[in-house]
Amino acid sequence: MTKLEKIVLSYSGGLDTSIILKWLQETYGCEVVTFTADLGQGEELEPARAKAEMSGVKDIRIVDLREEFVRDFVFPMLRANALYEGQYLLGSSIARPLIAKHLVGIAREVGAHAVAHGATGKGNDQLRFELAVNALDPSIKVIAPWRQWNIRSRMQLLEYAEKHRIPVPSDKRGEAPFSIDANLLHTSTEGKSLENPAEVAPDHVYQRTVDPVDAPDTPEIVTIGFERGDPVSVNGKAMTPAALPTELNGRGGRHGVGRLDLVENRFIGMKSRGIYETPGGTILLTAHRGIESITLDRAAAHLKDEIMPRYAELIYNGFWFAPEREMLQALIDQSQAFVSGEVTLRLYKGSASVISRTSRCSLYSADLVTFEESAIAYDHHDAEGFIRLNGLRLRSWAARNRR
Ligand code: ARG
Repeated sequence: MTKLEKIVLSYSGGLDTSIILKWLQETYGCEVVTFTADLGQGEELEPARAKAEMSGVKDIRIVDLREEFVRDFVFPMLRANALYEGQYLLGSSIARPLIAKHLVGIAREVGAHAVAHGATGKGNDQLRFELAVNALDPSIKVIAPWRQWNIRSRMQLLEYAEKHRIPVPSDKRGEAPFSIDANLLHTSTEGKSLENPAEVAPDHVYQRTVDPVDAPDTPEIVTIGFERGDPVSVNGKAMTPAALPTELNGRGGRHGVGRLDLVENRFIGMKSRGIYETPGGTILLTAHRGIESITLDRAAAHLKDEIMPRYAELIYNGFWFAPEREMLQALIDQSQAFVSGEVTLRLYKGSASVISRTSRCSLYSADLVTFEESAIAYDHHDAEGFIRLNGLRLRSWAARNRR
């Protein structure tokens, strides 16, 4: 094993990363710096500091990344209307490159040549962390304890904790808990009974949305303002990037908006089933499509829709910091210059539906589309020729088929 002087660990303060912290200290016999990011996961972060201190960590970093997360990661992704496999809003996928960026930044600052993460050897997250570190600083080594140590079961993990006097909370003593990942964009829940896709998810897996059946009988109306493709206000009130999803998670969650029960294809090769709750993200995506519907040119909009699955797959697979993602981003960002205005939605029993949209940059022309006589020069005979020419090849084709 190469001698390392310092390792920066992505540390949540939970049981698994506490064990990883101890294992790194023992295995490498070097200083471990812990990095805990506040991504709006809704958990107290001070306990992480106390736990790291107890494990003898001298350099403890707890950083509030909420604004950066939404401004530089979630919003650029939203501009693309990104959905993986048609449905997943990529809430975990988009958080990993940000964490990796800060791990690398701290490593450079403290002179560490390695970073470590607590993602397992079967998931997507290990790829997202490590591909991002590769792209940001190829000199930094990545340690993934889950792929290296001999702990192979939950039992062995708990035994390791007991042996090293790492406190195991009572709810973590029995069988493995759900695997949960939460941030300002979503809560993702996997594992346990969810591993059987034939089994209906129990109600208690849902944490930030009510069952649409129990949602209020009165709908709620909400207006989102956009400037150049990014949301900037709710009901006329200007908000910072991080405040927007925070506000909309509350409103959407009360109306049961943004639940998803999905079987997806992991990059590593297997299918997995997860429950996602993305109330604010679902409202923002629907609203963004609403404002684009009146401000984007048809061909521009369709080109965006063509590249979207490719762009979403890059994020899912961990290629955020890759040249092809940046190239697609440049295209997407350029399309957003006039995507400004306001969209009003109705939240009701699990749905978020656009009910009106306005923009000073609108391309919509009532005069052009109206059934009534219009002032704009539109010659109906042009449509006749347009159809005749578009039908030319179809007439040839049909005639040949009849022969
Ligand atoms: N399957 C999702 C993804 O790859 C979520 C992964 C993290 N979630 C979790 N519950 N551990 O993006």
